[in-house]
Amino acid sequence: MDDKGGFPHYMIKEIFEQPRGLRETIAPRVSLEDSAVRLDDVRISAEELRGLRRINIVASGTSRHAGMAGQFMIQELANLPGDVDYASEFEYRNPLIGPGELTIVITQSGETADTTAAQREAQAKGSRTVAISNVLDSTIAREADGVLYTHAGPEISIASTKAFTAQMAVLFLFALYLGQVRGKLTREQRRQYIRELLDLPEKVEAVLKSAPDCEHLADRYYKVPDFLFLGRAIHYPIAMDGALKLKEVSYIHAEGYPTGETKHGPNALIDENLPVVIIATCDRNNPGSVLRYEKSVANIKGFKQQSARVIAIATEGDREMAGLADHTVFVPRAPELLSPILEIVPLQLFAYYMTVRKGLDVDRPRNLVKSVTLE
Ligand code: AGP
Repeated sequence: MDDKGGFPHYMIKEIFEQPRGLRETIAPRVSLEDSAVRLDDVRISAEELRGLRRINIVASGTSRHAGMAGQFMIQELANLPGDVDYASEFEYRNPLIGPGELTIVITQSGETADTTAAQREAQAKGSRTVAISNVLDSTIAREADGVLYTHAGPEISIASTKAFTAQMAVLFLFALYLGQVRGKLTREQRRQYIRELLDLPEKVEAVLKSAPDCEHLADRYYKVPDFLFLGRAIHYPIAMDGALKLKEVSYIHAEGYPTGETKHGPNALIDENLPVVIIATCDRNNPGSVLRYEKSVANIKGFKQQSARVIAIATEGDREMAGLADHTVFVPRAPELLSPILEIVPLQLFAYYMTVRKGLDVDRPRNLVKSVTLE
């Protein structure tokens, strides 16, 4: 029975299921009237969480990009430092972790061999672990000390989309919970963040309305062989995942890079043949975000002087960007730490339409499997 719900492919169906996945992941865990987050399934005591010195995050592929964004959330909301590792590299760097540290293991399938091995390595070194998984009772979820499920629903397409945004929502919830338990956030701060979290599904619905614009971009760019995706700070992981989405389904070469790093080499590549996709949103209530935005504007002006075509993901109402970039896809206003959940949606849509325009099998890209159970 075709369970694509009337969509032509699983990938586009799952992109459009993100508002529901976010709603079902967030709503049961927050109380607006209490300004509180409840994560009973984390199964690690408040006392132990208060004693944590650092958080390590380990994952593969798109799940690691969620972890990169989560690191910013946890540092900002819980004042906890941490590292993010490739699961496939974790064992080789003999990580100096142990008791008093928490390792967050992120995985859609819960069966990825590299990530399973990394969790076992962290536990062998005395670290407690919390798994973020989209599959109930998966191997990684069963072996973890605590588990935080994403409720994105079954993800069939090899390219991860709805699990990714749900993972970032769970990481934000955990960061908020850590901040709450460790006394780093006032009641009003928690309430404001919970309010913003509850507004996310509706904002993703709004971004999905840009699907025709993304399809139009694909019509113009599907023959281009190379792309550079750029983002600063918490937006860098989104540039990374936008590049991964495009390369893994359309076979077009795409690289994700920190925007500030282009002057240290990649700028030599940027000309009329290399389109630049740049995350250039701005949270006007956040001075750091404004500063980063202004730097990105300067970067874009430089790229334009080098004859590059620029596709920008910007905040709705940003007329400056509309006049500067060749194409701009807008996302609704959101706090800096939550904006990545909106920014990835146009990039998912772009990758999808580019692939369909090329006539490829978007749900089953060559050489890839949905769950990499071999190291
Ligand atoms: C994502 O689009 C890819 N299909 C792949 O990178 C995936 O994220 C990675 O293999 C990790 O899978 P997991 O989340 O199930 O552990």
